[in-house]
Amino acid sequence: MNVKVMVMGASGQLGREIRQQFQGCYDLDAPGLDITDYPSVKDRISEINPSVVINTAAYTNVEKAEEEELTAFQVNAIGAQNVAIACKRVGAKFVHISTDYIFDGTKSAPYEEFDSPHPLSVYGKSKLWGEKLVEAVGGESFILRTSWLYGEGHNFVKTMLKLADERDKLSVVADQYGTPTYTKDLVWVIEKLMQTDFYGVYHASNNGSCSWYEFARKIFELTGKTVKVEPVSSAEYPTKAERPRCSVMENKLLKLRGLDVMRPWEEALQDYLENAVH
Ligand SMILES: NC(=O)c1ccc[n+]([C@@H]2O[C@H](COP(=O)([O-])OP(=O)(O)OC[C@H]3O[C@@H](n4cnc5c(N)ncnc54)[C@H](OP(=O)(O)O)[C@@H]3O)[C@@H](O)[C@H]2O)c1
Repeated sequence: MNVKVMVMGASGQLGREIRQQFQGCYDLDAPGLDITDYPSVKDRISEINPSVVINTAAYTNVEKAEEEELTAFQVNAIGAQNVAIACKRVGAKFVHISTDYIFDGTKSAPYEEFDSPHPLSVYGKSKLWGEKLVEAVGGESFILRTSWLYGEGHNFVKTMLKLADERDKLSVVADQYGTPTYTKDLVWVIEKLMQTDFYGVYHASNNGSCSWYEFARKIFELTGKTVKVEPVSSAEYPTKAERPRCSVMENKLLKLRGLDVMRPWEEALQDYLENAVH
């Protein structure tokens, strides 16, 4: 692929995966660039003149966002729009990443792109407003909603493996369902989509679903860890931010476009554990 790709948030989990997979065409990291600073975003994008900008930069601390609402909105909503506007000015395609937490989790079937969002947390609200403001710019944008990401960086898989080495028994929430998604698979979808003109909102998670408890069990099964895992309810594990009970999404539009290259989550997890966790 021979396109000039610029990545916002290149040192985050997804950003690192993009850098790794786009080696060769990628040299357009934007170190030190704060997406909330519109003049700098506009100048840097004009200077580099990329064909595609991928925004993985976000305020991702779901708990802390409850106390830092302004900062969460500044980064996830205003920052996203800043990048979208700067892309439109230079005619670059814009790939923006959003989340399953824009849904309230009360639907009894997987969420499709056609379902109405209703976020429960500040993080979810700020990401939803990011989507709306990006759409309001009216540029050539792809908004990809993903879920339960793991890759290079801090994530649930690494936390579970660390805890399994430190303890004999773990308690994991068993009444919240979603879909673990490997950053590697998400980048496959980004790469496919950005070569098209099919702009719009897409669900982009690995296939299938599980609870956090089932996710943890699968991690230990695949790594041969013998730690005991106890299921607990969300009520027994109170958090500041309310999370959706079931935010499983179907990649309906990717399927309709013949672009759903996502693997079942168990297969992606096995690949990650065998080849990427050291
Ligand atoms: N992680 C998940 O489970 C999950 C699930 C669904 C959707 N998503 C979405 O997927 C995307 C990627 O997530 P991720 O897990 O890769 O997140 P991450 O590891 O937390 O990386 C986010 C990156 O954004 C950077 N950043 C924060 N504020 C910034 C600003 N004002 N200007 C420029 N960069 C800034 C952070 O830099 P610092 O570290 O220096 O602050 C960090 O490098 C995000 O849009 C997130 O909302 C994530």
